[in-house]
Amino acid sequence: MKTSALSALGRRTALPPISWLMQTALTRPKLISLAAGFTDNATLPVEISRKLLNDILRSPKIGRPALQYGITAGETNLRKLTARHLQKLDGADDRAHSPERVMITGGSQQLLYMTLEAICDEGDIILVEDPTYFVFLSILQSQGIRARGVRLERDGINLVHLEKVLQRLKKTGELRRVKALYLVTYFQNPTGVTTSFAKKAGALKLLKKFERAAGHPIYLIEDAAYRELRFDPPLTIPSPSPRPGGARAGVRGFDFETKGLLTPTLSSVGGGEGEVKSALAVRGFTERVIYTGTYSKPYAPGARVGFGILPEPLFTAVQRIKGNHDFGTANLLQQLLARALETGLYDMHVARVRKNYARKARVMKQALAEHFPANVEIWESGGGLYFWARLPKGISAGMKSKVFQTALNTDVLYVPGELCYADDPSRAKPENEMRISFGSASEGNIRKGIARLGGVLKRFIP
Ligand SMILES: Cc1ncc(COP(=O)(O)O)c(C=O)c1O
Repeated sequence: MKTSALSALGRRTALPPISWLMQTALTRPKLISLAAGFTDNATLPVEISRKLLNDILRSPKIGRPALQYGITAGETNLRKLTARHLQKLDGADDRAHSPERVMITGGSQQLLYMTLEAICDEGDIILVEDPTYFVFLSILQSQGIRARGVRLERDGINLVHLEKVLQRLKKTGELRRVKALYLVTYFQNPTGVTTSFAKKAGALKLLKKFERAAGHPIYLIEDAAYRELRFDPPLTIPSPSPRPGGARAGVRGFDFETKGLLTPTLSSVGGGEGEVKSALAVRGFTERVIYTGTYSKPYAPGARVGFGILPEPLFTAVQRIKGNHDFGTANLLQQLLARALETGLYDMHVARVRKNYARKARVMKQALAEHFPANVEIWESGGGLYFWARLPKGISAGMKSKVFQTALNTDVLYVPGELCYADDPSRAKPENEMRISFGSASEGNIRKGIARLGGVLKRFIP
């Protein structure tokens, strides 16, 4: 007789590290958490949200629909506004994004989960950046999906390595199990890296090349969760010269850093459009791109509204799955976001948030320079919520390491970098890295937390 009624998934699902980290951060009042990717508390839009919710609930006629169930794919107005919002971010024209392809979800996390449900069976393979967003890895673990890592460089994945990984999987007969490549393309969680447009296009071309051998489409999942959190002003003034690897090569007038987006709309990217299309020859490939975004990071995680642009037949499949999950994201929250976008209060808020994160990142950068040993390599970002630190080889910062335990005893928490590496049998997980967030801590606590962490590191790093 079975000793448990749990399903294979129920038995298999491990405790996601995110739950432990959040719990620890919330239950130890003295602890300075530089771990969780919480957004800044002080700038959460309380006044704006109060005003907008008051507007929505000011009369039964407007308020009742907001308090009723809605449509599975999302509120029509918010889908339109989201399409327009993305057009603005892309610098594209009015027809660039079709609202029919936009799906509104309970955070982008739900969309990632449902997308994997729609394309993967147990034992399938997803290619991920090495390192990647560790909660995504938890979904893979839970759903019984295997992951293979692709090396990450300062401007995105290493395309030579991606091809090698695909070749190896072809050789072992496992290519038919590969369903997608997952990239966090802007100010990546955990490293802060932004993937250049050229690398995204290059990755897409490679996936397409291997499709025949795979026997089915291989998707590129572009997770743009941090896209709107670009620092204002930048931490470092970028150099005008083209980067090695040709991230900007050959395509004049196209700003890869701010419009480096591969959505199904590439065909209507404005300004330099023809050049982009011909230079990168990606026309016709974009039906392979799944774009996920969120209003959590730029507006409020407590409102938890995410969105995506999905190609067919995926849109229909995910819509049906969502029909079973919740048959629609909370209507009141969707109305809140719709009003924020419509009134311009959203843009106003995001402008404020970008300045605030730029300030906090600068405080952390200064503190890191002051307190961290000089032989710790720091990766700095152009936005987002994180710094990535690499300790000298041989010094472990992993969950079980002396560094992590001593930091915890000193009341400071970071995310051990090892959590961000997939279980990939073809390589060992580096243990000498850490993700450090300036998202939720106050400026004072950022200084204090980095001083504490620096003190810990100096005890273990010669
Ligand atoms: C890279 C990335 N993607 C997706 C999410 C999910 O965010 P949400 O579900 O709030 O939209 C997060 C949250 O931290 C993230 O870091």
